[in-house]
Amino acid sequence: MNKETLALAARALRHFTDKTTDQAESTMEIPLSAYRDVDRYAVEVERIFNHLPLAAALSLELPEAGNYRAMRLLGVPILLIRGEDMQVRAMLNVCSHRGAQLCKDGAGSRQMITCPYHAWSYSQTGDLVGRYGGMTFGDIENDQYGLTLLHCEEKAGIVWVCLTAGEVFNIDTWLGDFGDELNTLDLANWHMHEQRDLPGPGWKVTMDGYLEAYHHQLVHRETVGKYTVGNLLVLDTYGPHQRLTFGRKSLRDLIDQPRDQWRPDEHIRMIHSGFPNLSISGILGDHCLVSQVFPGETLSTTITRQTILVAKKPETLKQLKETKEFSALTLKAVQEEDYGIGFSIQSGLESGANDHFLFGRNEPAVQNYHRWIAKFMDSKNNSWQRPKRRSYEK
Ligand code: FES
Ligand SMILES: [Fe+2]
Repeated sequence: MNKETLALAARALRHFTDKTTDQAESTMEIPLSAYRDVDRYAVEVERIFNHLPLAAALSLELPEAGNYRAMRLLGVPILLIRGEDMQVRAMLNVCSHRGAQLCKDGAGSRQMITCPYHAWSYSQTGDLVGRYGGMTFGDIENDQYGLTLLHCEEKAGIVWVCLTAGEVFNIDTWLGDFGDELNTLDLANWHMHEQRDLPGPGWKVTMDGYLEAYHHQLVHRETVGKYTVGNLLVLDTYGPHQRLTFGRKSLRDLIDQPRDQWRPDEHIRMIHSGFPNLSISGILGDHCLVSQVFPGETLSTTITRQTILVAKKPETLKQLKETKEFSALTLKAVQEEDYGIGFSIQSGLESGANDHFLFGRNEPAVQNYHRWIAKFMDSKNNSWQRPKRRSYEK
């Protein structure tokens, strides 16, 4: 039995029987300008999304040498490709001749990357290795015309990328204890069932919704709220990263059960939230939802990449049906329910009804999230310390 999940189930059960939840020290006010100031939004995108390591893809999307994934993240065209040495590299998906996009957005496999415009070709490491009509083109040094690499590291089954060329990071220092926590999910060995992009409201409105259980019974009455206990949160933070544990209604079965007979993972649900835009949610046993929330072209839009994972590739019709049901449930819970409310919040931001939003003591993860946004927005704050775990248990 996993000691960690046992301890989490015990913390959740205590809250369940006492009708309590982990709490912040006080309530928190966030002025509405944080949600609707266009200039501030531009600085947030720059300081937070363009400079911090972002989860760009899952390792399992690029299982073999030569596999690539091309996408636009915050308008930046990037190409992830796994080389023969099994290392994933990230580069700008832009030809160094005259800037054509090299690979169409999507996935595939390539020994060599050949530009569709004039057939310059690049190796999986981004080196320029061939030029069509090179004799006629004129003399240039090929090594001056490789693709532009972005710093990229693979850790805990996730491919992390910094969108600004020339900037480096150390993923172990960035994640700290949260890296060990992510490792326990064994993400690289799951199977991808489905992936889709969902339009959503602005990034803070969207992310706020991923970070509390206060709304579950009302908004998700027909979906995830059927199984989870509303307003019960067990929280551990790792600097800006967080692990949220929700209780399932079946916790009540544990009240009279000796602890050595518990199967704790059946009674809790964990969300691993990587700052600033990653959420990994193990909702029901063998199924998992990974969400990457990317700010859109305006401050009131986002695109969420939703990836549905299943522990093992479904082999029977019954397993396939369960996986499809999970996928449909998460789509409804997020697109209709969470983002339905989110769009309504977004459209009311300019109404003048509120001049601030208020986060309760029972919403400590949202509070922690906003505290860290403020820290990254403070240009004087340049030091970074490997984050350590902090439990909100009293
Ligand atoms: S733009 Fe790529 S080869 Fe010319
Ligand atoms: Fe929700």
